[in-house]
Amino acid sequence: MSERETWATRAGFILAAVGSAVGLGNIWQFPFKTAQFGGASFLVVYLIAVFGIGLPAILAEFVIGRRAKLNAVSAFGNLGYRQWRFVGALGLFTGFWILSYYSVVGGWVIRYIWGSATGAYFTDSAAYFGAVSAGLDAVALHAVFMFLCIFIVALGIEDGIEKATKVMVPSIVVILLGLAAYGTTLSGAGAGYDYFLSPDFGALMSNIGDIVPFAVGQAFFSLSLGMGAMITYASYIDGEDSLVADGSTIVVLNTFVGVLAGFVVFPLLFAQGIDPNTSGPGAVFVSIAGAFANIPAGRAVGVVFFLVVLIAALSSAISLLEVVTSYIIDNYDVGRAPTATAIGVGLFLLGLPSAFDTAWLGWFDTLAYQLLLPVSVLLVLVFVGWILGGEALSEVMKGSSLGDGFGTTWLWMVRVVVILAVLGTLALGIQTLFL
Ligand code: PHE
Ligand code: NA
Repeated sequence: MSERETWATRAGFILAAVGSAVGLGNIWQFPFKTAQFGGASFLVVYLIAVFGIGLPAILAEFVIGRRAKLNAVSAFGNLGYRQWRFVGALGLFTGFWILSYYSVVGGWVIRYIWGSATGAYFTDSAAYFGAVSAGLDAVALHAVFMFLCIFIVALGIEDGIEKATKVMVPSIVVILLGLAAYGTTLSGAGAGYDYFLSPDFGALMSNIGDIVPFAVGQAFFSLSLGMGAMITYASYIDGEDSLVADGSTIVVLNTFVGVLAGFVVFPLLFAQGIDPNTSGPGAVFVSIAGAFANIPAGRAVGVVFFLVVLIAALSSAISLLEVVTSYIIDNYDVGRAPTATAIGVGLFLLGLPSAFDTAWLGWFDTLAYQLLLPVSVLLVLVFVGWILGGEALSEVMKGSSLGDGFGTTWLWMVRVVVILAVLGTLALGIQTLFL
């Protein structure tokens, strides 16, 4: 077997991980959920979830990956706990499951770049969404999106993922900054900022039982946790730089992009008097597209907006495809390109129900969010906190100038606080799923 690949640079790893983290979760869900759950007050809960729970958890995945230097399943065996490989397998399955419909949404985004250029959705954005979101159109573009992922992953870590995300991540930030600047010029933008950023504690308190699990689930999804993605990416790290520093950078950038997306989306909607409090997988497409129909230079702005969404979705999707690809090529004597292709075809097939009916897509998403993800994250945390324990502690402190107190605090956070938070999220999620 040939030598295992690594990232060429530390920045390459960080950018790839940010590319994985920054995706539809930031540009779609985050601004809308923030608005729905009371604006700035939700932001506070979310920030606590991201830094108090997401950051310790991402470090846990990094520890497994970098220490084992193997894919998300075999890593557990390599660390001496073969019987824990099922945790990696669950993560791999979860990632596979999620990518199947994530790719369908990616296909919609491609469609909307085109639809913006031609103004196809300008007269009736809801009817347009209904026509293109399910059926053969959606299937074809789901295939195109999947093909793009396969192409990048087939090129490998350094020449594919690292090179691609090095261009993609900075473009996401630059384009969003440009769109946010454009947003300030729209009349009615002020009401949008207000909606996004002024706290509504009444809405927060009356929904707190929904909000906390949602904020935690959103933090995990947004940070690409529970799917083996961060384990896999960390397994390609060559050096011994501080995981705490890298993890914090990734978490901060991911949060920054979510907030920035809010500064793009809300001025657009409020300038058109569109109610952002919508739900369902397609609502965002309908409302945002409706805004582009009426603003100055709407076609161009629409093209640029959906382009940035596409880049963000792609840089996330490749990390999920890499999880499975990495598992196969680490364990069997097969090439990267045929492996990525075969898996991509499998994903395409699994995504077909979602491409034919958005109700299926919603069902896949709910199951992933409320059940697969939290269970998978929980098991990783138990493994790192209680099984690896001291070994995890020394791995996380490597290259870090922080005192030992930090490491111990992290370990106990993982062992108790984070695990309890995930258990609570899971309980509430199961309750809404089945009761
Ligand atoms: N973090 C991505 C987002 O916010 C989604 C994702 C999850 C990507 C898991 C890879 C792995 O959209
Ligand atoms: Na994200």
